[in-house]
Amino acid sequence: MAKAPSVFTCTACGAVHKKWAGRCDACGAWNSITEEAPLSAGGAKALSQRGRTIPLTDLATEEAPPPRVRCGMDEFDRVLGGGLVPASAILVGGDPGIGKSTLLLQATASFARKGVKCLYISGEEAAAQVRMRAQRLGLADAPVGLGAETNLRDILTTLDAERPGLAVIDSIQTMWADTVEAAPGSVSQVRAAAHELVTFAKRRGVAIILVGHVTKDGQIAGPRVVEHMVDTVLYFEGERGHQFRILRAVKNRFGPADEIGVFEMTGGGLAQVANPSALFLSERGQAQPGSAVFAGIEGTRPVLTEVQALVAPSTLASPRRTVVGLDSGRVSTILAVLEARCGIPFTGLDVFLNVAGGMRVNEPAADLAIAAALLSAREDVALPPDMAIFGEISLSGALRPVGQAENRLKEAQKLGFSQAIAPERTKIEGIEGMQVRKMSDLTAFVGEIFGA
Ligand code: TYD
Ligand code: MG
Repeated sequence: MAKAPSVFTCTACGAVHKKWAGRCDACGAWNSITEEAPLSAGGAKALSQRGRTIPLTDLATEEAPPPRVRCGMDEFDRVLGGGLVPASAILVGGDPGIGKSTLLLQATASFARKGVKCLYISGEEAAAQVRMRAQRLGLADAPVGLGAETNLRDILTTLDAERPGLAVIDSIQTMWADTVEAAPGSVSQVRAAAHELVTFAKRRGVAIILVGHVTKDGQIAGPRVVEHMVDTVLYFEGERGHQFRILRAVKNRFGPADEIGVFEMTGGGLAQVANPSALFLSERGQAQPGSAVFAGIEGTRPVLTEVQALVAPSTLASPRRTVVGLDSGRVSTILAVLEARCGIPFTGLDVFLNVAGGMRVNEPAADLAIAAALLSAREDVALPPDMAIFGEISLSGALRPVGQAENRLKEAQKLGFSQAIAPERTKIEGIEGMQVRKMSDLTAFVGEIFGA
């Protein structure tokens, strides 16, 4: 039989190409395409077995699906959408060393203590090392089955024999299927292993959590290849220098996406942070120019964060725009609107923007807080320390109302803020003990706050 030609796969997005290229057409990544053995055709049994279909009406009469299981770590349960859905497949991605194994060992132990039969299979550490970690985390007595295995066939055999309620595979990049001729960690292997595990999970009613490393240089096949196969995709993020870690749902078939869980890395593992707003604002000292408090919403929960700006004369021909924790495209738009609509240029000035505490803010509702921080830094005027801000800025400079205004304001009030700036058409009756000033556009805001 003629040897099937190799395929070329992008390690960043998993797209398959006929020939090598320097840049992936699908995702635009450079130098990410590698040659791999062809996908095997084995397994497809055409016509040997007729599939069975079930009329939709029949399903309604079947008993209700088993309920979700909560592990008791509220931050983890919330991100899952209110607990673990039986027979679901979950991917937890994140940079190496960010704390994925620690988080999942803690979560698995909590599920086990709630009576779920749990297996933790590590392809990266020996069983003794996992046990040592569990001991350090004070989880040594949790009834979790440990395995150190990388061969997919052995893992599936174990799962079939043990029939756990939850199995954690740490990590998908270390697994290898002997039917695929490629190194562990390659796109073909990751795709094949994830496919087998997810199919098995659905058929046998096992909930499965796959751990995936993301590396920026694209050396290891990104979990992006796996994202569409699973029900839920969670990313574990955080800055190395910070203690805070955020578990974020980016896709969830069984709950709201964009939900976050906040943790703090301590000597004894990850501790839950029940009140993230207080944490993110805790480093705020005296009222400083360049600081604005944004009343945001993450998933179903209001979270207050501090946007910090520094504006300084530049010696460069094209001044610096350094943005951490915010979308730099949005920041450029806001700078352009400030210049075009309010006549406040930032030419010849370096701009640095940052969200305190290593948090990432993606909401357009943060626009007005970003503008406020930038103006406050440029004019060297501190904003009132008890002021919270939210609102989206349109290209015309008008302020657009955003969702969940009441939740934002209530959270701000709870944290001791007594005044807020909101877009004009915000539908709120008013919050007791809080002065809410509604403004129609950015020019009005600049005039009122900075007297310009
Ligand atoms: P780990 O869970 O191994 O990361 P990942 O699985 O994402 O690669 O976490 C590794 C880091 O966490 C390591 O730098 C040490 C730190 N850590 C603590 O600070 N406290 C702890 O209790 C544990 C277990 C780890
Ligand atoms: Mg790990």
